[in-house]
Formats: sequence, structure tokens, C-alpha cells
Amino acid sequence: MKLFKTITVSCFLLLILYSDLMKASEGNTGDNFLVANNDVSDVNSLQRGAGNFFNYCAGCHSLKFIRYNQIAEDLDLNESQLVQNLIFTQAKPEDAVITNMLPSDGSRWFGKSPPDLSLITRSRGTDQVYNFLRTFYKDSTSPTGADNRALPGTSMPNVLWLVQEQLNEKEFDQFTLDIVNFLDYVSEPIQSERKRIGIWVILFLLVFLVFSYGLYKDIWKEVH
Ligand code: HEC
Repeated sequence: MKLFKTITVSCFLLLILYSDLMKASEGNTGDNFLVANNDVSDVNSLQRGAGNFFNYCAGCHSLKFIRYNQIAEDLDLNESQLVQNLIFTQAKPEDAVITNMLPSDGSRWFGKSPPDLSLITRSRGTDQVYNFLRTFYKDSTSPTGADNRALPGTSMPNVLWLVQEQLNEKEFDQFTLDIVNFLDYVSEPIQSERKRIGIWVILFLLVFLVFSYGLYKDIWKEVH
């Protein structure tokens, strides 16, 4: 009976903790800002995000902590898909993702050299990166012709303006969310695996709890 109570109370506490976490992630920072809520176990989204990244971002930004062949392995791509769809430089599959742009050129052209994006979703959070990509708008007073609602005065040009014009709002949100999902995966490539293993570990511990409680009862019944 006591065991049953302990389990019920633990489940209840976990539920409260979980709903609190969900609430915290719903924090909104203003008009038209969306919560990313991306899913790194969604391989289709990661594949689309990787395609978008290498077509529109890799010219300026590196992902120096990840290699092309690791992306291919995690995203279920074979070597020819990798070479055809993701590698647009002289890089080999075993190379890290390094942009061809020299940092000195970056700062000369944009006033700031484009940062490496390997850990950007961890330092800024997925919501911020998502809204940064979604909220460029035309501004003739800016040197790049555009400004951004999530990072006012940014020196990054609106590189997605054509995509933004061609897609409707919902499609564009999905397009940028796929990039964020991909960047989130890059920031911790093992995270889907970690979560999957975590669930099994908790299940194992719960089953183990039942057995050890039975054993405890059995051993102590003669003493009590
Ligand atoms: C033409 C070069 C160029 C391209 C292409 C480009 N960026 Fe940038 N990006 C920059 C520069 C320059 C900065 C530094 C901006 C700043 O700090 O104001 C930057 C900054 C960023 C930041 C950091 C913003 C922050 O919060 O500090 C993110 C995230 C980002 N870019 C994502 C992307 C993504 C995703 C793409 C592809 C869709 C992309 N960029 C394409 C030049 C580029």
C-alpha cells in the first residue's frame, strides 16, 4: 500500500514539474513572436532544415563542431545524397562544416563577421533563433536594406527575402522552423538518442523499484 502511495505521489510530482516546464517554454516576448517547439527526432524536418541551411546559410556561417558525414549518418542520408545536396564546397565528407568566407572578409563586408552557428540555439535559445529568422522586414535606412524585430540593427542581410516572398506565412514559418530544428540538432547531435535512452533507464528503474521493494519485504518479514 505504501509503495502504491509512493508511486502515485512521485507520478503526481513529475506531472506538476512537466506542466510547469511546458508553461515556462510558452513565454512570449511580444507581438507575432512564436514558440519554436521543434522536434529533433523528426528526421524529415532535419533533412529539410539541412537542405535549407546549406543552400542559404553555409555561404557565410560555419558549423565547426560537426562533420558532414556525421550529419549524413544521423539524418539517414547516403554518401551521394550528402555530396549532391549538402556539400557545395571543396570539402570532403569527413571534413567539419566550415564556410569558405574568410572572417576578415565577413567583418569587412558586414561590419561583423558571421558567427559560427554550432551552438547558437544553446546560447540564444531556439525561440530567439526562430523569431530572428522569421522577422526580417524591409528598412531603407539600414545599410543592408532590412532590419529585424528579434535583433534590431542586425548586420545580417535578409538572405531569405526571396523565399519569404514565394511562400505564404505558414510555409515560411515551417521553412525557418526546419532550419532551427537542424541547428538545434547540430548543437547536441546525441540529444534524440539521449532522450530515448533516458526513457528506458527510467522504466528500468521503476521495474527495479518494484523488485527491490518485494525483496525488502521478504527479507525483513522475519525481523518485524
Ligand atoms: C551574407 C552572409 C550571411 C548569410 C548568407 C547568413 N547570415 Fe546569419 N549572420 C550574418 C552576419 C553578418 C551576422 C552577424 C549579425 C549581427 O550580429 O548583427 C549573422 C548572424 C546570425 C545569427 C546570430 C544572431 C544573434 O542572435 O546574434 C544567426 C542565428 C544567423 N545569422 C542565422 C543565419 C541563418 C539560419 C542563415 C540562413 C538562412 C544565415 N544566418 C545566413 C551573415 C549571414
